[in-house]
Amino acid sequence: MSAQLIDGNALSKQLRGEVAQRAAALTAQGVKPGLAVILVGENPASQVYVRNKVKSCEEVGFHSVLEKYEATMSEAELLARVDALNKDPSIHGILVQLPLPAHIDDHKVIEAISPAKDVDGFAVESAGALMVGEQGFKACTPYGCMKMLESIGMKDLKGKHAVVIGRSNIVGKPMAMMLLQANATVTICHSGTKDLGAMTRQADVIVAAVGKRNVLTADMVKPGAVVIDVGMNRNDEGKLCGDVDFEGVKQVAGWITPVPGGVGPMTITMLLVNTLESAERAAA
Ligand code: GUN
Repeated sequence: MSAQLIDGNALSKQLRGEVAQRAAALTAQGVKPGLAVILVGENPASQVYVRNKVKSCEEVGFHSVLEKYEATMSEAELLARVDALNKDPSIHGILVQLPLPAHIDDHKVIEAISPAKDVDGFAVESAGALMVGEQGFKACTPYGCMKMLESIGMKDLKGKHAVVIGRSNIVGKPMAMMLLQANATVTICHSGTKDLGAMTRQADVIVAAVGKRNVLTADMVKPGAVVIDVGMNRNDEGKLCGDVDFEGVKQVAGWITPVPGGVGPMTITMLLVNTLESAERAAA
């Protein structure tokens, strides 16, 4: 048996269509959703990411601003830009692309973004809101994973065991919180976990978010489990691959996300959803 694919491109297309409709309705009321993206320096991967974010905004009818600065920009100058965007009523979401140059404190910059515009969901207030179940922006990648589960009828995970591999602040930890909020029993595994396979073999849902190839192999998966692969790595031939041994695991899993075309497009989609919701709140 081969697993069914959860197609991130198809789901993104559907969700972005809904975002575009809501954005048009809001624009007709005089509020056009606006996202500001700040890029400091010349990191090639970051340049590709920000271009995709801005292009995606244009496709759904948002106003978008890309501010590019030299790597020599000072922290004070960057904080002043964030402050100005916090006060700009045409901007509903602010995204400062990470990583920042070493002389700038990431944490200080992220915390300077108004919680009402923190559409990445990276600030302490947003993470805390998720933790206690209050309204706040959810980190886009795990939020996209939840939408993928919802798309296969797994919105409520009562009675299910979810295993998250990875404990980063931007994926692993918020992922675990979102799964918990959906009533799953959640285990978080990481580099200090003694027997990863013993954990993952119990799982109905596995989310791999480590950033290393072949972290999850077929022998570590219960037949029929749902496998979500957040990884973005390159194999020996330079081809994009995830954290999961896709060819092996798809023989055992019930559902699996591919890389590319799985979680990747969902991250930007959820950024659009967060920005739209920010604009809707501003208009209300
Ligand atoms: N760098 C890599 N991914 C992201 C992201 O989702 N948001 C921001 N701000 N920076 C990133």
